[in-house]
Amino acid sequence: MHLLSEGWSQPQWTITIKNLSSAVDLRKIDQSATAEIGIHRTCWIAVMKICCIGAGYVGGPTMAMIAKQCPEIQVHVVDLNESRIAAWNSSQLPVYEPGLDEVVREARDRNLFFSCKVESAIAEADIIFISVNTPTKAFGQGAGRAANLEFVEKCARQIARVSKGHKIIVEKSTVPVRTAAAVRQILASEANNATFDVLSNPEFLAEGTAVADLLRPDRVLIGGDGAAAVEKLANIYARWVPRERILTTNLWSSELSKLTANAFLAQRVSSINSISALCEATGADVDEVARAIGSDSRIGPKFLKASVGFGGSCFQKDILNLVYLCEHFGLPEVAHYWEQVVLMNQHQKSRFSRQIASSMNNTLSDKKIAIWGFAFKKDTNDTRETPAIDVCIDLIGERARLAIYDPQVDSQTIVHDLTKALGERGRKGELDWLRDHVQIVDDPYVAADQAQAVAVLTEWDQFRTIDSERLSKLMVGPKLIFDGRRVIDADRMNLAGLSVYRIGQGFRWARAAVSGA
Ligand code: UDX
Ligand code: UDX
Repeated sequence: MHLLSEGWSQPQWTITIKNLSSAVDLRKIDQSATAEIGIHRTCWIAVMKICCIGAGYVGGPTMAMIAKQCPEIQVHVVDLNESRIAAWNSSQLPVYEPGLDEVVREARDRNLFFSCKVESAIAEADIIFISVNTPTKAFGQGAGRAANLEFVEKCARQIARVSKGHKIIVEKSTVPVRTAAAVRQILASEANNATFDVLSNPEFLAEGTAVADLLRPDRVLIGGDGAAAVEKLANIYARWVPRERILTTNLWSSELSKLTANAFLAQRVSSINSISALCEATGADVDEVARAIGSDSRIGPKFLKASVGFGGSCFQKDILNLVYLCEHFGLPEVAHYWEQVVLMNQHQKSRFSRQIASSMNNTLSDKKIAIWGFAFKKDTNDTRETPAIDVCIDLIGERARLAIYDPQVDSQTIVHDLTKALGERGRKGELDWLRDHVQIVDDPYVAADQAQAVAVLTEWDQFRTIDSERLSKLMVGPKLIFDGRRVIDADRMNLAGLSVYRIGQGFRWARAAVSGA
């Protein structure tokens, strides 16, 4: 019996009562459920079990959404990291995402479980998602470019070792094209009579909007050649995603599409950022240019916001991965083309730091600069590859004193990120400066107190409504704001005696600054 929902309406129940022989478990459906769908209360149904290895920014929210939308499917998210699992089981989730608390609260301990029991969760599951991290390789062949698939391979080995019967393995992690072949090979060579289908099902959610993206995805992509397995996975998403948005392809197209989507998105940001430099040199305004070109339906308005640079765990990693793949397959021109997207991003970050220094007489030594925002974008506590790391490291190199404020990133993370970045750049000698002259504060005004400049590095909404008069009273000359996200109201700031540099527009000077007062 199938009770399928239409369009984007509230989730409904899909209950399969046939094929009981293939069921791993049988469970009485609960009374509220039976009341909702109006079937007999004591009906027994086959319970599908899902296991997800990796309770990170992708695995956690994605599984929470599946569990919320499919109350009769048992979803078990496992991770090696005990403190992360403890946080998923607490009221302080390890991932900050608007709306995620409610989704987790609804499903947790009903049909959503978080634990470190990796092997038993694998053994019990019908479908196993691999959602572990795939960072850029830091050593050996392909270092700095290729993806490190060590964790994906370990998962495949573990799955092979503990599995019995037939299981569907789903690559949720972003992987280089043809990874599924390696996964299949490991499964085949190490399994004890178990059989597997391997599918690719990349995740396209963006952090900060993960819940909305999971609820209403532009598309769900499933790659694979086992029609029954593809259909089984598609049926899960079809509970709340319209069928026409569930795309199926072969394995390699699916794997490559994820890398390509991220490369195209990052390319748009680097493209508009390259134009932002030209705007500053010519008197054009990058937001006006973005609006003008984005009105062309062939270009479209999204992802044209000039910034201090893109960050996040995916864009750089995935483009470098693409570059490596192109080199591997003997396509150096294609590799070179995509590498420019990353190089332009690095240029944009250092251009911003240089702008701060050159606007302050090329002398930042002992000057206090407030840093507003450390996360790589608003509405997340994630700092992976955030441009704030590069800008802060540049300013520390100039011996500026920093006061850093972010509403969601905790101070340990900021100190950890900056310490690691100094170490990676061979600048451990500057750790003393970091310890003695970089403060992490919990209020933007406290950060700006006695500062000569403020650098806005994340577009948190609260920066749009900053009290300009209060800010001006707290700061000391030359009272400059470097807006790397174009969220500051320059007119209001100018009236209060603050001058504002906006990426892609250049300086808007306060009257006092122009008259030299
Ligand atoms: C995911 C994808 O997996 C990555 O490939 C994609 O590019 C971005 O999204 P993400 O969820 O952001 O990564 O990573 P992270 O938050 O680091 O979570 C991965 C989790 O896997 C961590 O909690 C880690 O402890 C866990 N893990 C890692 C395991 O449980 N086992 C391992 O062997 C390795
Ligand atoms: C990205 C992809 O959007 C998502 O589909 C994929 O699954 C993972 O990678 P994410 O990195 O979470 O998601 O966030 P995204 O919104 O894409 O932003 C990435 C970076 O680009 C951020 O630093 C953001 O501030 C920056 N950005 C984005 C801009 O500077 N300008 C823009 O117009 C858009």
